[in-house]
Amino acid sequence: MAEKKIYITTPLYYVNAEPHIGHAYTTVAADVLNRMYRLCGRETHFLTGTDEHGQKVQEAGDKAGLSPIAFADQLVDRFKALWELLGIEYQDFIRTTEERHIRVVQHVLQTLYDKGEIYPGDYHGWYHTASETFYTELQAKEARAGDPDLELIELTEQNYFFRMSAHQDWLVEHLDANPDFIAPQSRFNETRSFLNEPLQDLCISRPKSRLSWGIPLPFDPEHVTYVWFDALINYITAAGYPENTGCFAALWPADLHLVGKDILRQHAVFWPVMLHALGLPPPKKVFAHGWWTLQNEKISKSKGNVINPVDLVQAYGVDAYRYFLLREVPFGVDGAYSEKALVQRINSDLANDLGNIVHRVLSMVERYYEGVVPEPLMGEGQGEPWLELGQRCLDSVDKGLRQVSFVTMLDAIWGLIAAANKYIDTEAPWALAKNEDPHLATVLFEMVQVVGIVTLLVSPFMPGTSEKAWELLGLKEKPQERSINAAIQWPLVMPGTQTRKGEPLFPRIEV
Ligand code: MSP
Repeated sequence: MAEKKIYITTPLYYVNAEPHIGHAYTTVAADVLNRMYRLCGRETHFLTGTDEHGQKVQEAGDKAGLSPIAFADQLVDRFKALWELLGIEYQDFIRTTEERHIRVVQHVLQTLYDKGEIYPGDYHGWYHTASETFYTELQAKEARAGDPDLELIELTEQNYFFRMSAHQDWLVEHLDANPDFIAPQSRFNETRSFLNEPLQDLCISRPKSRLSWGIPLPFDPEHVTYVWFDALINYITAAGYPENTGCFAALWPADLHLVGKDILRQHAVFWPVMLHALGLPPPKKVFAHGWWTLQNEKISKSKGNVINPVDLVQAYGVDAYRYFLLREVPFGVDGAYSEKALVQRINSDLANDLGNIVHRVLSMVERYYEGVVPEPLMGEGQGEPWLELGQRCLDSVDKGLRQVSFVTMLDAIWGLIAAANKYIDTEAPWALAKNEDPHLATVLFEMVQVVGIVTLLVSPFMPGTSEKAWELLGLKEKPQERSINAAIQWPLVMPGTQTRKGEPLFPRIEV
């Protein structure tokens, strides 16, 4: 039996527009968690990808004068290029137009149809001929509110429905027995109260005459699959369902679906019910993060207020951008984006704190010991209190991983940096050097160790910076090749190691 791996997913992004901060956010978050679990010695699987069927993509392709797949191909390249730029190390990238996925979606549809979980029925709604758009009752109401002259034709069409209502009691029991299933708590509560009302069955097909860009239903090729029903299944396709049972056993249930709060219901209600109908267990956790906003509005392509992540990375560096996304706003709540806040974070946390401690310590080692890590005095430099602080960081990392709280992890690491800076100020190595006090060796030896611990712990957040600092410390293998336990192994950097002070990792940005 294969050992269970930590399985982390992002949503599959629609390929109707260029990627922006919202997409970068979830993907960077998943990457940090994935790297942190690996540092903790866990085997992991990190999946991301693209959602390519449905009306949005078909329309975007039409506008560009391209077939939907040719249009999707172009956008997939843009997403992959951004992930490379952002240092994202996924294990798998799935496109819903891939053969492996279409096969599984059709298998799922047929299985549920054979079980009586899918049935034909009438779908009532409103049709806007000019834009060839179908509105549900609610959508029609909203559209009419925006444009009272909108001409809508009442329409009833035959479709297929998924018997979601039959699984409501099970889902309610599941939520009540698993308070950690949906996080943060506010999202759990929101879902739980939604389930106080009767769950409607879900229309999972669209007539081909109205929408052709989708996966045909195996039992009625005149219909294609509703894009959400298609897309959610990706999480089990990529895990090897149903044929690759060894792989599937190692991955399913997924440990964490990271999603934005706008797509919580699909992940916390539709998806677990679909799995239950198939006889599969639900994911262990669905975490819904908040939105990045500008002037209190969600940043989105349709609002036209996006800032290209590529420009920010070019201006400020990839690690500063990664750090900012996860440090500025507690994961789970909305956050107002501003370039000013990004620059402030860089100057305070990265230039003043992290960059400074590395440069300060290594400069002194260079000045007083020609860059060679000194041997502490006999009976000194045994690791107190740093090992204890290191252990506290590991505890926070563990807690942060369980709670999907990046701020918890970073606060603990920055606590260590603050303690080191304070220690330097009180021990005043420059005064020790002036008085030729041999205790200087102990102080600098200890500080090199702390710089090593910090460098190791920040590696999932800022892999490139961490590698640079690691190299300055004279350490050979990359930080991510060490175990996180190195943070509580003393010493991490041996006396006699040749270091370099190099350039400051984060120069201050003058505003
Ligand atoms: N294709 C669906 C997901 C299918 S998953 C089986 C989809 N795609 S999306 O491209 O529209 O959005 C993907 C994610 O980006 C969502 O989780 C959404 O919350 C996130 N973001 C889009 N704009 C955002 C912000 N302004 N801020 C933070 N995240 C937001 O939905």
